[in-house]
Amino acid sequence: MREHRHSPHVPYAAQLIDRRDLSEDTSLFRIAPEASALAELASFVPGQFVQLSVPGAGEVPISPADLPAADGTLELCVRRVGHVTELLHKLKPGARLGLRGPFGCGFPLGDMAGRPVLLLAGGLGIAPLRSLLIHLLRQRDRYGDITLMYGAKQPRLMLFREELAALAAGGGMRLYLTVDFAPEQQEGDYSCAVGLLPDLLKGFRFDAAATYAALCGPPPLYRCLVADLERAGVAAERILLSLERRMRCGVGRCCHCAIGQKLCCMDGPVFRASDLKGIPEAL
Ligand SMILES: Cc1cc2nc3c(=O)[nH]c(=O)nc-3n(C[C@H](O)[C@H](O)[C@H](O)COP(=O)(O)OP(=O)(O)OC[C@H]3O[C@@H](n4cnc5c(N)ncnc54)[C@H](O)[C@@H]3O)c2cc1C
Ligand code: FES
Repeated sequence: MREHRHSPHVPYAAQLIDRRDLSEDTSLFRIAPEASALAELASFVPGQFVQLSVPGAGEVPISPADLPAADGTLELCVRRVGHVTELLHKLKPGARLGLRGPFGCGFPLGDMAGRPVLLLAGGLGIAPLRSLLIHLLRQRDRYGDITLMYGAKQPRLMLFREELAALAAGGGMRLYLTVDFAPEQQEGDYSCAVGLLPDLLKGFRFDAAATYAALCGPPPLYRCLVADLERAGVAAERILLSLERRMRCGVGRCCHCAIGQKLCCMDGPVFRASDLKGIPEAL
């Protein structure tokens, strides 16, 4: 069986260790891969993805929400949206899973070193950006100012809110939260703005000529934020976007994830906005 372990098409065995519900449809799953997977997983770069398989259901691409822990476990923040994720959400600790990867290109950490980093997350987009944020804060001295702007539809849908507030209280980053809409009964019960994510960016003073911006969220948000960032003076080469496409092989064989001439699983999922110019279907 050992030779199979070298094939990117064959999943490593993994086990669901525990889960924590973050909102009505989104949970944080802690997964323990088999020991032989750990060396490969140790190469994980924030922004890359794994192919998580639920036996009898299928496989889904998920970007880990944290760096692999010292014991090799991985945190995956997954929203229940369809066939595979519904079944995943029904599993109990101890359930068997499969895992391939990490795959694709993550954030260009070497290029970002020494620069201010502005993270812009919309909704579930906080999941992949959380692993980047944790990396930046662990290696705080390597980077300039770190700012996270995070927007959710409503306060109860804001993920990792206490954790993010605690990280900001540590002094290593600035945190700006916003919700599209705050139900009346929750007024005064939250410490964030009411408005859209691009509104947070409007009044923000920053060193646009040096900053790397990392975006993760729904595509309509990208169209708006990329234009706003470019207007503010951030070069398209330094605007990084994590794109989502339906995937199968995850390793450049099936063309299922094509974006123009590029493959989301190999050339992305993290792209520079400059690389997507002239590909209208990208955003
Ligand atoms: C690189 C990458 C990283 C991702 N990271 C995360 C993550 O951290 N957390 C998370 O919850 N989800 C993440 N996703 C999305 C996740 O893979 C899909 O939600 C999942 O594949 C849905 O599978 P399903 O069988 O549950 O739903 P299905 O039954 O297959 O589909 C349910 C609905 O979701 C739509 N859909 C499914 N997959 C995609 C997709 N890839 N892009 C756009 N629409 C889709 C379908 O059109 C359908 O409307 C990521 C996707 C990619 C490509
Ligand atoms: S998922 Fe097969 S080529 Fe990208």
